Amino acid sequence: MTEKIETLLNEVAAFAPKTWDEVEAFRIRMLGKKGAVTALFDQFKAAPAEQKRTLGQAMNRLKSATVEKINELKARLEELALSSAEASAAALDMTRPAGADRVGSRHPISLVRNRILEIFGRIGFVPAEGPEIEDDWHVFTALNFPPEHPARDMQDTFFIEKDPDILLRTHTSSIQVRVMQSQQPPIRVICPGRVFRNEAISYRAHCIFHQVEGLYIDENVSFADLKQTILHFAKEMFGEKSEIRMRPSYFPFTEPSTEVDVSCNLCGGKGCPVCKYTGWLEIMGAGMVDPNVLEACGIDSKRYSGFAFGMGVERIAMLKYGVKDLRLYFENDLRFLRQFTPVI
Ligand code: DAH
Repeated sequence: MTEKIETLLNEVAAFAPKTWDEVEAFRIRMLGKKGAVTALFDQFKAAPAEQKRTLGQAMNRLKSATVEKINELKARLEELALSSAEASAAALDMTRPAGADRVGSRHPISLVRNRILEIFGRIGFVPAEGPEIEDDWHVFTALNFPPEHPARDMQDTFFIEKDPDILLRTHTSSIQVRVMQSQQPPIRVICPGRVFRNEAISYRAHCIFHQVEGLYIDENVSFADLKQTILHFAKEMFGEKSEIRMRPSYFPFTEPSTEVDVSCNLCGGKGCPVCKYTGWLEIMGAGMVDPNVLEACGIDSKRYSGFAFGMGVERIAMLKYGVKDLRLYFENDLRFLRQFTPVI
């Protein structure tokens, strides 16, 4: 038996396979149920008692040498296999067909803003823009905000400087002021822009968002003109069957003021979770421009009248696409952004 152990130990030491299969066959030949090492253990049971101690030690040495060798060989072969896979991945295959380039998509907020501009553009509203950093006068004073109005509070507005107050505009209504200051009626503008409010960020509020403001000033502009203009917009944006509803409201810069709802385009006005079972969705604020605002901007309020409206682009996009978490619009996650196609 001692001799047999010696032979096997030599065999283990000399074993130099090239393939994984050879190692596996070796394992079975040595350690399998009918393997050589296993057979030795069976013989060992019948060995004379005085030899058992030395024999046992030798056999354990043989067994662990075999197991160690097999493990080492397998690890080495695995390493070799990995590095050859890497090598072939690194080799350039010049004959491989080129993958198609992914065509980029517009951000959903740009899509919706462009669509709003297009709808109003077709009925004569010309785009106008203004600065994001504004002074108090253009954002509040000229728009008839009383000095103690809460929007002027630090809690709602980001101030850059105090006395004189320089701030980030909280709404695009400041653009109407700039347009009226530099132009006489007839005025018909549509003003997109980013606005800033000191809000905690959540699924329904963000400190940066987008608005579009509309302004129409001429002789004899009436509330009926406002109503028809907004109805036209709602039908273009949300579908021919859309209806609008106007609720009385208050804004310092319009009199009378209204908040406009559109019939829920998901349930057709019957009531669903999106419209909270009311059948209506709020889309904008609007009203007849307050004569104080016209006068502050150098327009004769006895001769001219006008209407204005303002809407949140994220809000319209949310209703259009059914995306309820505003934060998604700001995260630039390509998996989200790639889903959008132009709105028609
Ligand atoms: N500026 C308002 C806001 O940010 C929206 C608004 C309401 C604009 C009524 C208007 C208007 O032009 O007439 O909430």
